[in-house]
Amino acid sequence: MSFEYVLAIETSCDDTSVAIVRQDGYVVECLAANQDLVHQPFGGVVPEIASRNHTLQILPLVEKVLEKSEFTIDKIDGLAVTSRPGLIGSLLVGVVTAKTLALIHDRPLIGVNHLEAHLLAPFLYDDEFSKPQDLKFPYLALAISGGHTQLYLVHDFGQYEVLGRTVDDAAGEAFDKFAKRLGLSFPGGVQVDRLAKDGDKNKYALPRTMVHEDSYNFSFSGLKSAATRLVDSLSDSERLSERAHLCASFQEAVVESLMYKLNKAAQELSISRVVLTGGVSANSRLREVSEAWAKKNKITLFVPPIRYCTDNAAMVGFAGVQRLIKGESSDQNLSASASSLPSDFKEASR
Ligand code: KG4
Ligand code: ZN
Repeated sequence: MSFEYVLAIETSCDDTSVAIVRQDGYVVECLAANQDLVHQPFGGVVPEIASRNHTLQILPLVEKVLEKSEFTIDKIDGLAVTSRPGLIGSLLVGVVTAKTLALIHDRPLIGVNHLEAHLLAPFLYDDEFSKPQDLKFPYLALAISGGHTQLYLVHDFGQYEVLGRTVDDAAGEAFDKFAKRLGLSFPGGVQVDRLAKDGDKNKYALPRTMVHEDSYNFSFSGLKSAATRLVDSLSDSERLSERAHLCASFQEAVVESLMYKLNKAAQELSISRVVLTGGVSANSRLREVSEAWAKKNKITLFVPPIRYCTDNAAMVGFAGVQRLIKGESSDQNLSASASSLPSDFKEASR
């Protein structure tokens, strides 16, 4: 069976997204319904609210994607859905929807690991964004989002080696918690980025945790605690007047910690292609520092456009169609799982 177009569904956290993707990475259509405003009053994603919203949004979004792309479901060769890892109630909405569509329309189904999808995001392209010509395997990929901070060596489709991961908070989570402490609204990463532009990144000395440890792991809880103590030591008026400097200093600590391990892996493994993906790769200081680093070290850096860095169904469709092409598929027993399966990623034995 040939697979040209898949319809993909992503509901692993708080974004409902549906896409139609061609097997070469061309994104026919990708729409997302963001829930940030709904979760804002709580300062974080409330799982129960997220899954309820997915149930309201998913079918209208499927219809809208079909309508906008002028596709009918008989032109679709398969269904791809994020089945792991993520919030279980949220994942279930996507999985049940995809299973139902697959059953009704008699199409093959594939459950996709959300992190695998992030790793393959640089292969996506559309009318405004062309796929980079020289993106080839192997490459290093740093996946940095609100839920994950992982460094991978991507050998091929389906062959991923985990080099390192955060031992505590994810980078995005650290940004969001720090922002909350400063009284900024959720999700705070974007606002820290914006405020930091007017701040002095050297004003406050904050720790770069784990940089002296000989591993590719990350840690942000020490930084979070130090930043919390610093913010709490200030008066209300200082907190406001120092906001830009606090944001710039905090952001610099996160960026340096990420770059330190990324550089270590690129040098030690002699890899010259590097991908940044996940919501935090939107950070302007990280982009600036990583671009300068890549230039200096003759590394080709791939950072997909923000719409494919943050959670989206297009990346799920692309990861799914590669697996369908290889002959893999899921059946109606597909279930959602809060964590990755042991077979999804190989742990590095370095
Ligand atoms: O990948 P994503 O959209 O969702 C998942 O968490 O899977 O990532 C969202 C995270 C949030 O923590 C948000 O604060 C962070 O990405 N983020 C940023 C920026 N834009 C989004 N962090 C720092 N600077 C940014 N510009
Ligand atoms: Zn994600």
